[in-house]
Amino acid sequence: SQNIYILGIESSCDDTAASVMHNGKILSNVIASQKIHEEYGGVVPELASRAHQQNIVPVVAQALKKANIDKSQLNAIAFTRGPGLMGSLLVGTSFAKSLAFGLDIPLIDVNHMQAHILAHFIDEEGFNKPPFPFLAMTISGGHTQIVKVSSYFDMEVIGETIDDAVGEAYDKSGKILGLGYPAGPEIDKRAKLGNPKAFKFTKPKVDGLNFSFSGLKTAILYFIQKETKANPNFIDENINDICASIQYTIIGILIDKLKLASKETGIKHIAIGGGVSANSGIRQALKNGESKFGWTTYVPKFEFTTDNAAMIAIVGYLKYLEGNFSEQNITASARLKI
Ligand code: KG4
Ligand code: ZN
Repeated sequence: SQNIYILGIESSCDDTAASVMHNGKILSNVIASQKIHEEYGGVVPELASRAHQQNIVPVVAQALKKANIDKSQLNAIAFTRGPGLMGSLLVGTSFAKSLAFGLDIPLIDVNHMQAHILAHFIDEEGFNKPPFPFLAMTISGGHTQIVKVSSYFDMEVIGETIDDAVGEAYDKSGKILGLGYPAGPEIDKRAKLGNPKAFKFTKPKVDGLNFSFSGLKTAILYFIQKETKANPNFIDENINDICASIQYTIIGILIDKLKLASKETGIKHIAIGGGVSANSGIRQALKNGESKFGWTTYVPKFEFTTDNAAMIAIVGYLKYLEGNFSEQNITASARLKI
């Protein structure tokens, strides 16, 4: 039987992460999240690159240590090639290339968006793997897509945002309300305490399976400006209801498009990934879809939904089994497509 050790490295945005995987099972999953961006209310690319450079060697060293293996035991290095911030990607890419060259083992490039989806194939007790074909909705601060997944590497984007990502809608709404960054978890927490129908925000009209979130942000801004003019304490007095109403609107948009995607493709196996899939409302709405629409739904373990290197390692492992390796002159690609 085979004995494959893969090191996965992720550095596409503001998390420096490394993970060691043995035959599809996680041995370690280390993340250094960059706190520096909080005070700016969003990721500052220059600062992100610098922090990656600082963190990458200690994070990889810790991942190897936690996995209790020596780097000489690694069979391949998998890294995020894109999409993401170019300066951030360059740090992980250059490091991965050098390490693979130094150890004289294969290098494997990974598409970050494919990785969010293939995270469902990490061996974890109590988590079922979706059967092909399935629909995957990736929702995070950087992405909002619905993907038809026919096999590991046969994926088709059938819908995506034409402006902001859904996580951005959360974060920008939070900014308007004076909440910290990232605001998604805070809005989610407060939404549980509020009335989702207290305030009504209209859903954007976007054809087909595409999404739009920039109009919602503007609608919320105007609404808050108008209400605080009449009552300066409006936000404080209604924060839970405002959060619940925003969350209700966002989830409605996501579920409407999933329903349409399922109807158009005839596929009822539905998986989600990305940071926003931590959201309690979307998880509940998906669960409801099982009895309401006959869906079977798949939500990965929390630590594999936000950016992480275990999802990079699993793609590395699947590509390793196919002998699908990178050329030595491969470069990072900020706008890499699925
Ligand atoms: O996947 P992720 O960690 O990073 C990328 O953007 O790639 O996702 C981060 C996003 C942020 O916009 C954050 O506000 C959102 O995920 N988020 C949430 C929740 N937890 C994180 N949004 C809504 N509800 C949550 N519970
Ligand atoms: Zn991501």
